[in-house]
Amino acid sequence: MHSALSTALLGLSALAAARPSNDNYNQGSSAASTTQYGWMSSKTTTSAPSGNTVFSFPLANGFPASLKADALQQIKSLAHGVPGNGAAPTGISADSATNFKFIAFNELTEVAFFSELINNITYNVPGYDQVPNREAVLAALTAVLAQEELHAIGAENALKANNIAPIAGCKYDFPVSSFDEAITTASLFTDVVLGTLPDVQKVFSKDGVIGGIQLVGSVIGQEGEQNGYYRTLENKIPSALPFLTAGKREFAFSALVQNFVVRGSCDADEKSVGFKVFARLNTVNLPSPLKPINTTLSFEADNDNIWNGPLDQLNLVYINQQTLPIIVPLKNAKQGQKSFTFDADFPGDFPFFMNGLTIAVVVQNAALINGTIDKVPAQTLFGPALIEIN
Ligand SMILES: *[C@@H]1O[C@H](CO)[C@@H](O)[C@H](O)[C@H]1NC(C)=O
Ligand SMILES: *[C@@H]1O[C@H](CO)[C@@H](O)[C@H](O)[C@H]1NC(C)=O
Repeated sequence: MHSALSTALLGLSALAAARPSNDNYNQGSSAASTTQYGWMSSKTTTSAPSGNTVFSFPLANGFPASLKADALQQIKSLAHGVPGNGAAPTGISADSATNFKFIAFNELTEVAFFSELINNITYNVPGYDQVPNREAVLAALTAVLAQEELHAIGAENALKANNIAPIAGCKYDFPVSSFDEAITTASLFTDVVLGTLPDVQKVFSKDGVIGGIQLVGSVIGQEGEQNGYYRTLENKIPSALPFLTAGKREFAFSALVQNFVVRGSCDADEKSVGFKVFARLNTVNLPSPLKPINTTLSFEADNDNIWNGPLDQLNLVYINQQTLPIIVPLKNAKQGQKSFTFDADFPGDFPFFMNGLTIAVVVQNAALINGTIDKVPAQTLFGPALIEIN
């Protein structure tokens, strides 16, 4: 499984195998595209494969913007439950509004992903035609899709209650072409989101949106159940870590946009959601299998006028579990045309024991981070690179 993950993380040419276009989706629509942004490094963008499917909303039921009559009822049936019936919080702060925007953006991406995945399995797309326990998998994913739709609708309704424009869907190009890759990717982004929802809770807590804390807590558990299932499908133990890796909204947003969104297909930026998209950072030639041991990793960053100063003023920050940010220097840093490469020690062994998800970002002014993850985004220039062990 690890090899599929590192492939996904690195955007290697294995993903470039020709993929059939699939124009007859009953949920969402897709079209052949020769332009792939995000996941593939900028170097490979120009030679991106043709025939990738690009997903666009709406779904057949009108989701997200214009649900058809009875669609909501049907979504609830498929989701095996209903959204809460309490009133949405009103008069919320800008930061709490950003919470709902971020959640809506993320949930729309998840809806796009799972609806494309269900479609691939349903239509026996090559790579998706030998799924073990196919019916049980489809039943589970169908519930997940409807549950994510309700998460998205809930966040959009909270925005509406505060007279804030809804978050529109984007076009998406997912860097996967087999069931195994799709599940590994689902597990990875679920891990990122799971770790980020406590950051959302911190904002609600600071701003006194107490009902939001409870609601988001119910979603954290829900996404944890999902990830246990994806991990089981990958033959991993269901619960990865005693304390999951913490995230920040900024990093999750950049990861979604960099890896899944067709750039320019929507307002995925500071104006719409509230966060800028950081420059890309990729791991290069990850050891396989990756283990929680002390080792050295190689990275590559897209540097199109992001940083012009000396590279030795930059540092790499690792975020893993609930450990305080781990800051290491860049080694062998070299400038390229529009990129730079470097190595960095990965202190995977005890005392950190860096299993599970690690978020890596390149920062300036590391001294200002001061032992708190909350101060990392303001110093971040490049990232996040996502590293998953076991
Ligand atoms: C669905 O299959 C197409 C064709 O292989 C592929 O391009 C796309 O990434 C797949 N999507 C998911 C979510 O598996
Ligand atoms: C691994 O690195 C950590 C942090 O630098 C250090 O404390 C530990 O002693 C190292 N372990 C081994 C086995 O070298």
